[in-house]
Amino acid sequence: MGEKQLISTLKYMSAIKPAFFLSEIIPYLDDPMPLFKVFSIITPQLPGLGLMAKKTGEDFEIVKILPAKPYLLTPEEYSRQKEYFTERALPAALAHSIEKYITKKVGKDWNDPVIIERLRRAIVAQKDDYWKPAHKRSLKYIKGYSVLGYLAYHFPVYFMQTGHLLMMLARDGLLKKNMTILDVGTGPGVVPLAIADFYSRLDGAEATIYSIERSEEHIEAFTYLRDAIVPGVGRVSIKSPVKSDIRSMDFTILPDKIDLVIFSNSLNELPETTLDVRADIVARISERLAPDGTILITEPADEQNATRMRSLTIALQKKGLFIYSPCSFIWGSTCTAPRCWSFEMAPAIRLTQLMETLAHCNDSYRYVNTDIKYSYAILRRDGIRKEKFRVPGRSKFLRLSKLHLHVGKRINVAGLKMSGELGDARSHVFKLCDGTAKTPVFAVLPSYHITQRNDLILSAPYGSILELRNVLVRYNMEHDAYNLLVSRNTRVSPANKEGRNS
Ligand SMILES: C[S@@+](CC[C@H](N)C(=O)[O-])C[C@H]1O[C@@H](n2cnc3c(N)ncnc32)[C@H](O)[C@@H]1O
Repeated sequence: MGEKQLISTLKYMSAIKPAFFLSEIIPYLDDPMPLFKVFSIITPQLPGLGLMAKKTGEDFEIVKILPAKPYLLTPEEYSRQKEYFTERALPAALAHSIEKYITKKVGKDWNDPVIIERLRRAIVAQKDDYWKPAHKRSLKYIKGYSVLGYLAYHFPVYFMQTGHLLMMLARDGLLKKNMTILDVGTGPGVVPLAIADFYSRLDGAEATIYSIERSEEHIEAFTYLRDAIVPGVGRVSIKSPVKSDIRSMDFTILPDKIDLVIFSNSLNELPETTLDVRADIVARISERLAPDGTILITEPADEQNATRMRSLTIALQKKGLFIYSPCSFIWGSTCTAPRCWSFEMAPAIRLTQLMETLAHCNDSYRYVNTDIKYSYAILRRDGIRKEKFRVPGRSKFLRLSKLHLHVGKRINVAGLKMSGELGDARSHVFKLCDGTAKTPVFAVLPSYHITQRNDLILSAPYGSILELRNVLVRYNMEHDAYNLLVSRNTRVSPANKEGRNS
Protein backbone atom coordinates (compact mmCIF):
# COMPACT_ATOMS: atom_id res chain seq x y z
CA MET A 1 0.00 0.00 0.00
CA GLY A 2 2.82 2.44 1.03
CA GLU A 3 4.57 2.16 -2.33
CA LYS A 4 1.36 2.35 -4.34
CA GLN A 5 0.26 5.47 -2.51
CA LEU A 6 3.70 6.98 -2.91
CA ILE A 7 3.70 6.49 -6.68
CA SER A 8 0.18 7.81 -7.14
CA THR A 9 1.07 10.88 -5.03
CA LEU A 10 4.14 11.37 -7.17
CA LYS A 11 2.02 11.16 -10.33
CA TYR A 12 -0.49 13.62 -8.89
CA MET A 13 2.19 16.14 -7.91
CA SER A 14 3.90 15.92 -11.27
CA ALA A 15 0.57 16.50 -13.01
CA ILE A 16 -0.08 19.73 -11.12
CA LYS A 17 3.48 21.11 -10.78
CA PRO A 18 6.34 21.26 -13.29
CA ALA A 19 8.86 20.80 -10.41
CA PHE A 20 8.58 20.03 -6.70
CA PHE A 21 10.65 18.79 -3.78
CA LEU A 22 10.37 15.18 -2.76
CA SER A 23 9.84 16.21 0.87
CA GLU A 24 6.58 17.89 -0.25
CA ILE A 25 4.91 14.55 -0.83
CA ILE A 26 5.64 13.08 2.62
CA PRO A 27 2.70 14.84 4.36
CA TYR A 28 0.33 13.22 1.84
CA LEU A 29 1.33 9.68 2.87
CA ASP A 30 -0.77 7.69 5.34
CA ASP A 31 2.45 6.18 6.69
CA PRO A 32 5.04 8.95 6.49
CA MET A 33 8.55 7.59 5.89
CA PRO A 34 12.04 9.09 5.87
CA LEU A 35 13.09 10.98 2.75
CA PHE A 36 15.90 8.54 1.86
CA LYS A 37 13.42 5.64 1.93
CA VAL A 38 10.99 7.56 -0.29
CA PHE A 39 13.89 8.24 -2.65
CA SER A 40 15.00 4.61 -2.83
CA ILE A 41 11.44 3.44 -3.59
CA ILE A 42 10.73 5.97 -6.32
CA THR A 43 14.14 5.94 -8.07
CA PRO A 44 13.49 2.93 -10.35
CA GLN A 45 10.01 4.28 -11.20
CA LEU A 46 11.05 7.81 -12.15
CA PRO A 47 12.07 7.34 -15.82
CA GLY A 48 8.86 5.42 -16.54
CA LEU A 49 6.92 8.40 -15.18
CA GLY A 50 8.95 10.77 -17.33
CA LEU A 51 10.57 12.28 -14.23
CA MET A 52 14.06 12.68 -12.83
CA ALA A 53 15.49 13.63 -9.43
CA LYS A 54 18.16 16.25 -8.81
CA LYS A 55 19.88 16.33 -5.40
CA THR A 56 19.30 19.78 -3.91
CA GLY A 57 20.81 20.23 -0.44
CA GLU A 58 19.20 17.62 1.82
CA ASP A 59 16.25 17.22 -0.53
CA PHE A 60 15.60 16.11 -4.11
CA GLU A 61 13.99 18.25 -6.73
CA ILE A 62 11.70 16.23 -9.01
CA VAL A 63 11.44 17.58 -12.53
CA LYS A 64 9.98 16.37 -15.82
CA ILE A 65 12.44 14.82 -18.26
CA LEU A 66 12.65 17.01 -21.31
CA PRO A 67 13.80 14.74 -24.11
CA ALA A 68 16.79 16.09 -26.02
CA LYS A 69 16.05 17.60 -29.39
CA PRO A 70 16.27 14.79 -31.94
CA TYR A 71 18.90 14.98 -34.64
CA LEU A 72 16.74 14.97 -37.76
CA LEU A 73 18.48 14.33 -41.04
CA THR A 74 18.43 17.08 -43.66
CA PRO A 75 17.32 16.18 -47.21
CA GLU A 76 21.02 16.20 -48.25
CA GLU A 77 21.93 13.81 -45.44
CA TYR A 78 19.03 11.55 -46.38
CA SER A 79 20.07 11.43 -49.99
CA ARG A 80 23.71 10.64 -49.05
CA GLN A 81 22.51 7.77 -46.87
CA LYS A 82 20.16 6.55 -49.59
CA GLU A 83 22.94 6.54 -52.14
CA TYR A 84 25.13 4.55 -49.75
CA PHE A 85 22.42 1.95 -49.08
CA THR A 86 21.73 1.62 -52.80
CA GLU A 87 25.37 0.62 -53.32
CA ARG A 88 25.00 -2.29 -50.82
CA ALA A 89 28.78 -2.53 -50.58
CA LEU A 90 31.15 -2.55 -47.63
CA PRO A 91 33.16 0.72 -47.82
CA ALA A 92 36.25 -0.02 -49.94
CA ALA A 93 38.71 1.32 -47.35
CA LEU A 94 37.26 -0.97 -44.71
CA ALA A 95 37.24 -4.04 -46.96
CA HIS A 96 40.87 -3.29 -47.80
CA SER A 97 41.82 -2.85 -44.13
CA ILE A 98 40.29 -6.23 -43.30
CA GLU A 99 42.45 -7.85 -46.00
CA LYS A 100 45.53 -6.02 -44.71
CA TYR A 101 44.80 -7.11 -41.16
CA ILE A 102 44.56 -10.75 -42.21
CA THR A 103 47.87 -10.42 -44.07
CA LYS A 104 49.49 -8.86 -41.01
CA LYS A 105 48.15 -11.52 -38.64
CA VAL A 106 49.09 -14.57 -40.71
CA GLY A 107 52.36 -13.21 -42.14
CA LYS A 108 51.35 -14.14 -45.72
CA ASP A 109 49.16 -12.49 -48.33
CA TRP A 110 45.49 -12.79 -47.36
CA ASN A 111 44.77 -14.38 -50.76
CA ASP A 112 47.48 -17.04 -50.50
CA PRO A 113 45.65 -20.35 -51.21
CA VAL A 114 46.81 -21.83 -47.89
CA ILE A 115 45.40 -18.87 -45.94
CA ILE A 116 42.15 -18.92 -47.92
CA GLU A 117 41.75 -22.62 -47.11
CA ARG A 118 42.36 -21.95 -43.40
CA LEU A 119 39.81 -19.15 -43.45
CA ARG A 120 37.31 -21.52 -45.06
CA ARG A 121 37.89 -24.05 -42.30
CA ALA A 122 37.49 -21.37 -39.62
CA ILE A 123 34.19 -20.22 -41.16
CA VAL A 124 32.81 -23.75 -41.34
CA ALA A 125 33.90 -24.47 -37.75
CA GLN A 126 32.22 -21.27 -36.55
CA LYS A 127 28.97 -22.09 -38.34
CA ASP A 128 28.98 -25.66 -37.02
CA ASP A 129 29.48 -24.28 -33.53
CA TYR A 130 26.60 -21.82 -33.97
CA TRP A 131 24.11 -24.60 -34.64
CA LYS A 132 25.21 -26.79 -31.73
CA PRO A 133 22.92 -27.08 -28.69
CA ALA A 134 23.46 -24.09 -26.38
CA HIS A 135 25.52 -25.93 -23.76
CA LYS A 136 27.90 -27.33 -26.41
CA ARG A 137 28.77 -24.05 -28.12
CA SER A 138 32.36 -22.88 -27.72
CA LEU A 139 32.18 -19.17 -28.69
CA LYS A 140 35.55 -18.33 -27.27
CA TYR A 141 37.26 -16.35 -30.05
CA ILE A 142 40.60 -17.28 -28.51
CA LYS A 143 42.25 -18.46 -31.70
CA GLY A 144 43.29 -15.88 -34.28
CA TYR A 145 41.53 -17.66 -37.13
CA SER A 146 38.13 -17.57 -35.44
CA VAL A 147 38.29 -13.76 -35.54
CA LEU A 148 39.70 -13.70 -39.08
CA GLY A 149 36.86 -15.99 -40.17
CA TYR A 150 34.43 -13.61 -38.46
CA LEU A 151 35.90 -10.65 -40.33
CA ALA A 152 35.59 -12.47 -43.64
CA TYR A 153 32.13 -13.98 -43.23
CA HIS A 154 30.04 -12.13 -40.61
CA PHE A 155 31.51 -8.65 -40.44
CA PRO A 156 30.24 -7.29 -43.82
CA VAL A 157 26.60 -8.26 -43.24
CA TYR A 158 26.48 -7.12 -39.60
CA PHE A 159 28.20 -3.86 -40.54
CA MET A 160 25.62 -3.06 -43.22
CA GLN A 161 22.80 -4.24 -40.97
CA THR A 162 23.92 -1.75 -38.30
CA GLY A 163 23.65 0.98 -40.94
CA HIS A 164 20.01 0.04 -41.59
CA LEU A 165 19.28 0.05 -37.86
CA LEU A 166 20.90 3.48 -37.45
CA MET A 167 18.80 4.78 -40.32
CA MET A 168 15.70 3.51 -38.53
CA LEU A 169 16.76 5.29 -35.31
CA ALA A 170 17.36 8.47 -37.31
CA ARG A 171 13.93 8.28 -38.97
CA ASP A 172 12.29 7.75 -35.59
CA GLY A 173 14.05 10.81 -34.14
CA LEU A 174 16.02 8.68 -31.67
CA LEU A 175 19.43 10.15 -32.54
CA LYS A 176 20.70 13.26 -30.80
CA LYS A 177 23.21 15.83 -32.01
CA ASN A 178 25.78 14.66 -29.51
CA MET A 179 25.51 11.11 -28.28
CA THR A 180 27.24 8.80 -25.86
CA ILE A 181 26.91 5.27 -27.20
CA LEU A 182 27.81 1.92 -25.65
CA ASP A 183 28.22 -1.25 -27.73
CA VAL A 184 28.07 -4.44 -25.68
CA GLY A 185 29.98 -7.45 -27.06
CA THR A 186 31.54 -5.35 -29.80
CA GLY A 187 33.66 -8.13 -31.37
CA PRO A 188 36.00 -6.53 -33.94
CA GLY A 189 34.15 -3.21 -33.59
CA VAL A 190 31.41 -3.87 -36.13
CA VAL A 191 28.94 -1.45 -34.54
CA PRO A 192 31.38 1.39 -33.65
CA LEU A 193 32.86 1.27 -37.15
CA ALA A 194 29.39 1.25 -38.71
CA ILE A 195 28.41 4.25 -36.59
CA ALA A 196 31.55 6.15 -37.67
CA ASP A 197 30.71 5.31 -41.27
CA PHE A 198 27.05 6.36 -40.92
CA TYR A 199 28.06 9.62 -39.21
CA SER A 200 30.53 10.37 -42.01
CA ARG A 201 27.44 11.06 -44.15
CA LEU A 202 25.94 13.44 -41.55
CA ASP A 203 26.96 17.07 -41.34
CA GLY A 204 26.75 17.99 -37.68
CA ALA A 205 26.16 14.94 -35.45
CA GLU A 206 28.80 13.86 -32.95
CA ALA A 207 29.24 10.63 -31.01
CA THR A 208 31.53 9.16 -28.40
CA ILE A 209 31.43 5.38 -28.54
CA TYR A 210 32.35 3.05 -25.68
CA SER A 211 32.31 -0.71 -25.94
CA ILE A 212 32.76 -3.93 -23.97
CA GLU A 213 34.43 -7.06 -25.27
CA ARG A 214 35.97 -10.05 -23.54
CA SER A 215 38.06 -11.54 -26.36
CA GLU A 216 41.63 -10.25 -26.70
CA GLU A 217 41.75 -11.36 -30.35
CA HIS A 218 38.63 -9.34 -31.19
CA ILE A 219 40.01 -6.29 -29.39
CA GLU A 220 43.21 -6.52 -31.43
CA ALA A 221 41.23 -6.57 -34.70
CA PHE A 222 38.98 -3.75 -33.42
CA THR A 223 41.96 -1.54 -32.61
CA TYR A 224 43.64 -2.18 -35.96
CA LEU A 225 40.50 -1.41 -37.99
CA ARG A 226 39.60 1.64 -35.91
CA ASP A 227 43.06 3.11 -36.30
CA ALA A 228 43.07 2.38 -40.02
CA ILE A 229 39.63 3.81 -40.76
CA VAL A 230 38.48 6.36 -38.22
CA PRO A 231 40.32 9.67 -38.01
CA GLY A 232 41.81 10.28 -34.52
CA VAL A 233 40.20 13.69 -34.38
CA GLY A 234 36.73 14.01 -35.77
CA ARG A 235 33.09 14.10 -34.88
CA VAL A 236 33.11 10.43 -33.88
CA SER A 237 35.41 9.26 -31.14
CA ILE A 238 35.75 5.51 -30.64
CA LYS A 239 37.25 4.69 -27.25
CA SER A 240 39.27 1.52 -26.76
CA PRO A 241 36.99 -1.34 -25.66
CA VAL A 242 36.72 -2.22 -21.98
CA LYS A 243 38.02 -5.79 -21.76
CA SER A 244 35.50 -7.47 -19.51
CA ASP A 245 32.91 -10.20 -19.14
CA ILE A 246 29.40 -8.76 -18.96
CA ARG A 247 28.26 -11.62 -16.73
CA SER A 248 30.43 -10.39 -13.89
CA MET A 249 31.59 -6.84 -14.61
CA ASP A 250 30.95 -3.77 -12.53
CA PHE A 251 28.82 -1.57 -14.78
CA THR A 252 29.37 1.51 -12.64
CA ILE A 253 32.72 1.97 -14.42
CA LEU A 254 30.73 2.85 -17.56
CA PRO A 255 29.73 6.43 -18.28
CA ASP A 256 26.35 7.42 -16.92
CA LYS A 257 23.67 9.11 -19.06
CA ILE A 258 24.38 6.90 -22.07
CA ASP A 259 22.09 7.85 -24.96
CA LEU A 260 22.17 4.57 -26.84
CA VAL A 261 23.16 1.06 -25.75
CA ILE A 262 23.50 -1.54 -28.49
CA PHE A 263 23.61 -5.31 -28.07
CA SER A 264 24.33 -6.59 -31.56
CA ASN A 265 24.41 -10.38 -31.84
CA SER A 266 25.99 -10.61 -28.41
CA LEU A 267 23.27 -11.81 -26.04
CA ASN A 268 22.92 -15.13 -27.88
CA GLU A 269 26.54 -15.74 -26.97
CA LEU A 270 25.55 -16.26 -23.34
CA PRO A 271 23.91 -19.62 -24.07
CA GLU A 272 24.46 -21.07 -20.63
CA THR A 273 22.59 -18.21 -18.95
CA THR A 274 18.88 -18.25 -18.22
CA LEU A 275 16.48 -15.71 -19.67
CA ASP A 276 16.33 -14.04 -16.28
CA VAL A 277 20.12 -13.68 -16.06
CA ARG A 278 20.27 -12.14 -19.55
CA ALA A 279 17.42 -9.78 -18.66
CA ASP A 280 19.25 -8.87 -15.48
CA ILE A 281 22.42 -7.98 -17.42
CA VAL A 282 20.48 -5.74 -19.81
CA ALA A 283 18.52 -4.16 -16.95
CA ARG A 284 21.69 -3.41 -14.95
CA ILE A 285 23.36 -1.84 -17.98
CA SER A 286 20.18 0.15 -18.62
CA GLU A 287 20.73 1.86 -15.26
CA ARG A 288 23.54 3.74 -17.02
CA LEU A 289 21.10 5.14 -19.59
CA ALA A 290 20.10 8.77 -19.82
CA PRO A 291 16.43 9.14 -18.85
CA ASP A 292 15.57 9.56 -22.55
CA GLY A 293 18.09 6.95 -23.68
CA THR A 294 17.47 4.03 -26.01
CA ILE A 295 18.43 0.35 -25.93
CA LEU A 296 18.72 -1.49 -29.23
CA ILE A 297 18.95 -5.27 -29.15
CA THR A 298 19.50 -7.16 -32.36
CA GLU A 299 19.95 -10.88 -32.83
CA PRO A 300 20.16 -13.26 -35.78
CA ALA A 301 16.84 -14.04 -37.46
CA ASP A 302 16.92 -17.82 -37.02
CA GLU A 303 13.96 -19.17 -35.07
CA GLN A 304 15.79 -19.97 -31.86
CA ASN A 305 17.64 -16.68 -31.48
CA ALA A 306 14.77 -14.51 -32.71
CA THR A 307 12.19 -16.09 -30.39
CA ARG A 308 14.58 -15.93 -27.44
CA MET A 309 15.21 -12.27 -28.06
CA ARG A 310 11.50 -11.54 -28.12
CA SER A 311 11.00 -13.40 -24.83
CA LEU A 312 13.87 -11.37 -23.42
CA THR A 313 12.11 -8.11 -24.28
CA ILE A 314 9.01 -9.30 -22.43
CA ALA A 315 11.17 -10.18 -19.40
CA LEU A 316 12.72 -6.70 -19.60
CA GLN A 317 9.30 -5.10 -19.32
CA LYS A 318 9.03 -6.71 -15.90
CA LYS A 319 12.31 -5.00 -15.00
CA GLY A 320 11.02 -1.51 -15.73
CA LEU A 321 11.89 -1.12 -19.41
CA PHE A 322 9.30 -0.32 -22.07
CA ILE A 323 9.18 -1.67 -25.61
CA TYR A 324 9.30 1.23 -28.07
CA SER A 325 9.23 -0.92 -31.22
CA PRO A 326 8.66 -3.06 -33.23
CA CYS A 327 5.96 -4.49 -30.93
CA SER A 328 2.86 -2.45 -30.35
CA PHE A 329 0.14 -3.66 -28.03
CA ILE A 330 -2.81 -2.31 -29.96
CA TRP A 331 -5.43 -3.82 -27.65
CA GLY A 332 -3.57 -2.60 -24.56
CA SER A 333 -2.96 -6.23 -23.61
CA THR A 334 0.14 -7.75 -22.07
CA CYS A 335 1.92 -10.00 -24.51
CA THR A 336 3.82 -13.09 -23.48
CA ALA A 337 5.49 -13.50 -26.89
CA PRO A 338 5.02 -17.25 -27.16
CA ARG A 339 6.90 -18.67 -30.14
CA CYS A 340 7.30 -15.17 -31.59
CA TRP A 341 9.54 -15.59 -34.60
CA SER A 342 9.70 -12.15 -36.14
CA PHE A 343 12.44 -10.53 -38.15
CA GLU A 344 13.22 -7.68 -40.50
CA MET A 345 15.04 -7.89 -43.83
CA ALA A 346 17.10 -5.54 -45.97
CA PRO A 347 18.55 -5.94 -49.48
CA ALA A 348 21.44 -8.38 -49.69
CA ILE A 349 24.93 -6.88 -49.73
CA ARG A 350 27.41 -7.25 -52.56
CA LEU A 351 30.14 -9.83 -52.21
CA THR A 352 33.42 -8.48 -50.87
CA GLN A 353 36.58 -9.39 -52.77
CA LEU A 354 37.54 -11.59 -49.83
CA MET A 355 34.22 -13.46 -49.88
CA GLU A 356 34.47 -13.87 -53.64
CA THR A 357 37.93 -15.40 -53.26
CA LEU A 358 36.69 -17.74 -50.53
CA ALA A 359 33.82 -18.78 -52.77
CA HIS A 360 36.15 -19.89 -55.59
CA CYS A 361 35.68 -23.57 -54.75
CA ASN A 362 33.20 -26.40 -55.14
CA ASP A 363 30.88 -25.61 -52.25
CA SER A 364 31.03 -21.84 -52.65
CA TYR A 365 27.64 -21.31 -50.95
CA ARG A 366 29.30 -22.12 -47.61
CA TYR A 367 31.44 -18.99 -47.72
CA VAL A 368 28.95 -16.49 -49.08
CA ASN A 369 27.05 -14.48 -46.52
CA THR A 370 25.12 -11.60 -48.03
CA ASP A 371 21.52 -11.82 -46.76
CA ILE A 372 20.48 -9.26 -44.16
CA LYS A 373 17.83 -10.69 -41.83
CA TYR A 374 17.65 -9.65 -38.21
CA SER A 375 15.42 -9.60 -35.24
CA TYR A 376 15.46 -6.41 -33.20
CA ALA A 377 13.83 -4.56 -30.35
CA ILE A 378 14.09 -1.01 -29.12
CA LEU A 379 13.46 -0.36 -25.45
CA ARG A 380 13.33 2.81 -23.39
CA ARG A 381 12.89 3.74 -19.76
CA ASP A 382 10.59 6.70 -20.36
CA GLY A 383 7.69 4.68 -21.78
CA ILE A 384 7.44 6.41 -25.16
CA ARG A 385 6.29 4.13 -27.96
CA LYS A 386 6.72 4.33 -31.69
CA GLU A 387 3.07 3.59 -32.40
CA LYS A 388 0.36 5.00 -30.17
CA PHE A 389 -2.53 3.45 -32.09
CA ARG A 390 -5.08 1.56 -30.03
CA VAL A 391 -8.00 -0.38 -31.51
CA PRO A 392 -11.04 1.87 -31.02
CA GLY A 393 -13.50 0.75 -28.36
CA ARG A 394 -16.48 -0.36 -30.43
CA SER A 395 -14.57 -1.48 -33.54
CA LYS A 396 -15.57 -4.54 -35.56
CA PHE A 397 -12.17 -6.24 -35.28
CA LEU A 398 -11.60 -9.63 -33.75
CA ARG A 399 -8.69 -10.14 -31.37
CA LEU A 400 -6.26 -12.71 -32.75
CA SER A 401 -6.56 -14.59 -29.44
CA LYS A 402 -10.18 -15.40 -30.41
CA LEU A 403 -9.43 -16.92 -33.83
CA HIS A 404 -10.02 -20.47 -32.55
CA LEU A 405 -13.71 -19.60 -32.20
CA HIS A 406 -13.98 -18.51 -35.84
CA VAL A 407 -12.21 -21.20 -37.88
CA GLY A 408 -13.82 -21.43 -41.34
CA LYS A 409 -15.41 -17.99 -41.01
CA ARG A 410 -14.64 -14.62 -42.55
CA ILE A 411 -13.63 -11.91 -40.12
CA ASN A 412 -11.93 -8.50 -39.80
CA VAL A 413 -8.69 -8.07 -37.87
CA ALA A 414 -6.17 -5.33 -37.11
CA GLY A 415 -2.54 -6.17 -36.49
CA LEU A 416 1.12 -5.46 -37.17
CA LYS A 417 2.93 -6.97 -40.11
CA MET A 418 5.74 -8.63 -38.19
CA SER A 419 7.85 -10.30 -40.85
CA GLY A 420 9.27 -9.98 -44.28
CA GLU A 421 8.21 -12.51 -46.92
CA LEU A 422 7.95 -15.98 -45.36
CA GLY A 423 6.36 -17.56 -48.41
CA ASP A 424 7.26 -17.50 -52.08
CA ALA A 425 6.12 -15.99 -55.35
CA ARG A 426 3.12 -18.35 -55.53
CA SER A 427 1.90 -17.86 -52.01
CA HIS A 428 2.92 -14.84 -49.93
CA VAL A 429 3.03 -15.31 -46.18
CA PHE A 430 3.52 -12.68 -43.45
CA LYS A 431 3.42 -12.91 -39.69
CA LEU A 432 0.67 -10.87 -38.05
CA CYS A 433 0.45 -9.80 -34.43
CA ASP A 434 -1.95 -7.75 -32.33
CA GLY A 435 -0.32 -8.53 -28.98
CA THR A 436 -3.09 -10.93 -27.84
CA ALA A 437 -2.47 -14.28 -29.56
CA LYS A 438 -0.77 -17.23 -27.90
CA THR A 439 -0.66 -19.14 -31.20
CA PRO A 440 1.23 -17.71 -34.18
CA VAL A 441 -0.91 -16.07 -36.88
CA PHE A 442 -0.01 -15.60 -40.54
CA ALA A 443 -1.64 -13.71 -43.38
CA VAL A 444 -1.51 -15.84 -46.54
CA LEU A 445 -2.03 -14.26 -49.95
CA PRO A 446 -1.96 -16.62 -52.96
CA SER A 447 -0.57 -14.73 -55.95
CA TYR A 448 -3.73 -15.27 -58.04
CA HIS A 449 -5.73 -13.41 -55.37
CA ILE A 450 -3.60 -10.24 -55.47
CA THR A 451 -5.66 -7.10 -56.16
CA GLN A 452 -5.12 -3.39 -55.68
CA ARG A 453 -7.35 -3.62 -52.62
CA ASN A 454 -5.18 -6.17 -50.81
CA ASP A 455 -1.62 -5.69 -52.14
CA LEU A 456 -0.70 -3.36 -49.28
CA ILE A 457 0.10 -6.50 -47.29
CA LEU A 458 2.99 -7.06 -49.74
CA SER A 459 4.45 -3.56 -49.72
CA ALA A 460 3.77 -2.34 -46.16
CA PRO A 461 7.00 -2.05 -44.18
CA TYR A 462 7.80 -4.31 -41.24
CA GLY A 463 5.95 -3.12 -38.12
CA SER A 464 3.11 -1.36 -40.00
CA ILE A 465 -0.31 -1.58 -38.42
CA LEU A 466 -2.85 -2.87 -40.93
CA GLU A 467 -6.56 -3.57 -41.02
CA LEU A 468 -7.59 -6.72 -42.88
CA ARG A 469 -11.27 -6.93 -43.73
CA ASN A 470 -12.89 -10.16 -44.83
CA VAL A 471 -10.16 -12.75 -44.26
CA LEU A 472 -10.92 -16.47 -43.94
CA VAL A 473 -9.66 -18.16 -40.76
CA ARG A 474 -7.90 -21.50 -41.18
CA TYR A 475 -6.10 -23.61 -38.61
CA ASN A 476 -2.78 -25.13 -39.65
CA MET A 477 -2.50 -28.27 -37.57
CA GLU A 478 1.01 -29.15 -38.75
CA HIS A 479 2.44 -25.90 -37.38
CA ASP A 480 -0.17 -25.21 -34.70
CA ALA A 481 -0.82 -21.80 -36.21
CA TYR A 482 -3.71 -19.82 -37.70
CA ASN A 483 -3.63 -18.70 -41.32
CA LEU A 484 -5.77 -15.79 -42.43
CA LEU A 485 -6.49 -16.21 -46.11
CA VAL A 486 -6.28 -12.88 -47.90
CA SER A 487 -8.39 -13.34 -51.03
CA ARG A 488 -9.48 -11.06 -53.84
CA ASN A 489 -12.44 -10.13 -51.61
CA THR A 490 -10.18 -8.95 -48.80
CA ARG A 491 -9.42 -5.29 -48.23
CA VAL A 492 -6.10 -4.41 -46.58
CA SER A 493 -5.66 -0.82 -45.44
CA PRO A 494 -3.44 1.11 -43.07
CA ALA A 495 -4.79 1.24 -39.51
CA ASN A 496 -7.04 4.18 -38.95
CA LYS A 497 -4.65 6.37 -37.02
CA GLU A 498 -7.58 8.66 -36.28
CA GLY A 499 -8.65 5.88 -33.90
CA ARG A 500 -8.20 6.34 -30.18
CA ASN A 501 -4.60 7.25 -29.37
CA SER A 502 -3.29 6.88 -25.86
C1 LIG B 1 28.70 -12.65 -32.56
S1 LIG B 1 29.82 -11.51 -31.89
C2 LIG B 1 29.03 -9.98 -32.27
C3 LIG B 1 30.02 -8.90 -32.56
C4 LIG B 1 29.38 -7.60 -33.02
N1 LIG B 1 28.61 -7.01 -31.96
C5 LIG B 1 28.54 -7.87 -34.25
O1 LIG B 1 27.33 -7.60 -34.23
O2 LIG B 1 29.09 -8.34 -35.24
C6 LIG B 1 29.52 -11.61 -30.16
C7 LIG B 1 30.56 -10.90 -29.36
O3 LIG B 1 30.17 -10.87 -28.00
C8 LIG B 1 31.32 -11.16 -27.21
N2 LIG B 1 30.89 -11.74 -25.95
C9 LIG B 1 30.27 -12.94 -25.78
N3 LIG B 1 30.06 -13.16 -24.47
C10 LIG B 1 30.57 -12.10 -23.82
C11 LIG B 1 30.66 -11.76 -22.44
N4 LIG B 1 30.19 -12.59 -21.51
N5 LIG B 1 31.25 -10.60 -22.10
C12 LIG B 1 31.73 -9.75 -23.06
N6 LIG B 1 31.68 -10.04 -24.38
C13 LIG B 1 31.09 -11.18 -24.76
C14 LIG B 1 32.10 -12.15 -28.03
O4 LIG B 1 33.46 -12.23 -27.64
C15 LIG B 1 31.90 -11.60 -29.42
O5 LIG B 1 32.89 -10.69 -29.76
